[in-house]
Amino acid sequence: MDIRDITPPAGMAGRVDHIGIAVTDLEEGIRLYAGLLGLELIAVEEVPREKLKVALLKLDRAGGAGCVELLQPLDPDSNVGRFLEKKGPGLHHVAFAADDMGAALANCRAAGLRLLNEEPLPGAHGKQVVFLHPKDTAGVLIEICSRM
Ligand code: CO
Repeated sequence: MDIRDITPPAGMAGRVDHIGIAVTDLEEGIRLYAGLLGLELIAVEEVPREKLKVALLKLDRAGGAGCVELLQPLDPDSNVGRFLEKKGPGLHHVAFAADDMGAALANCRAAGLRLLNEEPLPGAHGKQVVFLHPKDTAGVLIEICSRM
């Protein structure tokens, strides 16, 4: 593939939806990202399926849809709980917005990327989410998300 000829793939919205950061203490994380770094806190909610409490902060007070998503596990026996145990707090995943999940996933499959969940799962903030295997994406856990 000639990198000058890359065209936008079907199904993707062409923007980062959020950056997921694992924290041990959500309030401390909110104090850092909102109180010191100046992002606007827009929601705190629990995602029982993932045993998580999450806070959403706007990446840009002036506009845009991107967010920082702080992830605090409610149970050490959860995906993010095990991540914290192994690696400590830090960058957990980067989520890309899709406007057509079916088309986006078809492209990923056709490119040989493995999906960690074959069917979209309900995530936080009224989104459905699919994760790509980080071994296929240069070591970064990538989430594709779209409105349900
Ligand atoms: Co996410």
